[in-house]
Amino acid sequence: MGYQEAHDKLEKFGQLHVLKYYDDLSGYEKEALIEQIENTDLEVLSQCRHKEELNPRGQITPIEVMQLTEIEDKREEYTAIGLDAIRAGKVGAVLLAGGMGTRLGSDAPKGVYNIGLTKEVFIFQRLIENLMDVVRQADAWIPLYIMTSDKNHEATASFFEDKHYFGYNADYVTFFMQDMAPASDYDGKVYMEEKWKMSTSPNGNGGWFLSMMKWGVVDKIRKSGVEWLNVFAVDNVLQRIADPCFVGATIATNSAVGAKVVKKNAPDEKVGAICLEDGRPSIVEYYEMTDELMEAKDAQGEPAYNFGVILNYLFREKDLEEIAARKLPLHIVEKKIPHLDDNGMPVKPESPNGYKFEQLVLDMIHELDSCLPYEVVRNHEFAPIKNKTGIDSVESARKLCEENGIEL
Ligand code: UTP
Repeated sequence: MGYQEAHDKLEKFGQLHVLKYYDDLSGYEKEALIEQIENTDLEVLSQCRHKEELNPRGQITPIEVMQLTEIEDKREEYTAIGLDAIRAGKVGAVLLAGGMGTRLGSDAPKGVYNIGLTKEVFIFQRLIENLMDVVRQADAWIPLYIMTSDKNHEATASFFEDKHYFGYNADYVTFFMQDMAPASDYDGKVYMEEKWKMSTSPNGNGGWFLSMMKWGVVDKIRKSGVEWLNVFAVDNVLQRIADPCFVGATIATNSAVGAKVVKKNAPDEKVGAICLEDGRPSIVEYYEMTDELMEAKDAQGEPAYNFGVILNYLFREKDLEEIAARKLPLHIVEKKIPHLDDNGMPVKPESPNGYKFEQLVLDMIHELDSCLPYEVVRNHEFAPIKNKTGIDSVESARKLCEENGIEL
């Protein structure tokens, strides 16, 4: 793309201010800016003007959940099916680690955070240790794909190198990077991070499969015979990955996707609730829960939307290829966005000052015909680290680790 085309693209989306400093830039900076303009989806920016109308919901109804007692009854059978699939190389794991982890308040990738008290215990290390339990049980390595972003790729990859992959077999680890999306003020004008660079942030965790395709990872997966992908979040330090019983249950019930869920600890807990939407599997976000949904009861008198997702899904790879071309809903989130002010001086805001644009993995569930919500014991498998203190924090996760006999 040349200058004129870049100019025309910006003009089309009302973003000509991006070229404000163009004449003062060095040759290298000019090139970098033009390249960024070429590769950035500017169309999303206009969406914030009608963001309330963006994602209309269909009719929400309860979904059947496979609960703990049923799982216990079939544990042996499901585990055997899962272990067979793992040993046959049909199961891969995808670690979503492209997020910014802003709530934790560290500029480093979330996974390098040390939650140890008497020794070093990094978040990445906890995840690898959990995955190693299954590697030992199956006596087979599980391919691990790690999604990073422009903001944390180098730091993540070099951390794994330095730590010798915490004992994991590096031949089975593949890194890929997610795309970035522009970040704007409340009027949809993209912020400038530098005079030669628009402000961007990772485009949400929903783009993971498209990014895998773009990076050639999907070709590799197809060749190696991986049929199932267990996608999971970086921040749950008790996350069970490639859990054989979960894998077996999803396969045995012929489900397009399995979703690990926990019993919510309150109707208004801040987790997405698994449900049906217009008869298809879906997730209703906590901020979308109406009083009516919170009070609804099932036939047993239990809350009808009582199970929350924990960002641990098992997708069938060929279904992902089928839905890859479909556009997922866009979520517009208020964030603190560092930028240059009108005088070209850098500003690091203390409170939210604009929008970032994201697609979410949970919206992929609705694209599929069937889903197995699979209950797990909350205190054994769910210790998310979102904040430094309080709910879902380093403190609460440490407590849960100790409860599970994990030395910190
Ligand atoms: P969160 O929704 O907690 O976002 O991510 P975050 O960016 O890590 O944290 P905050 O909101 O800035 O504090 C849930 C999971 O999705 C991944 C995260 O790394 C985490 O595993 N994620 C999130 C991505 O991989 N990419 C993204 O663009 C966003």
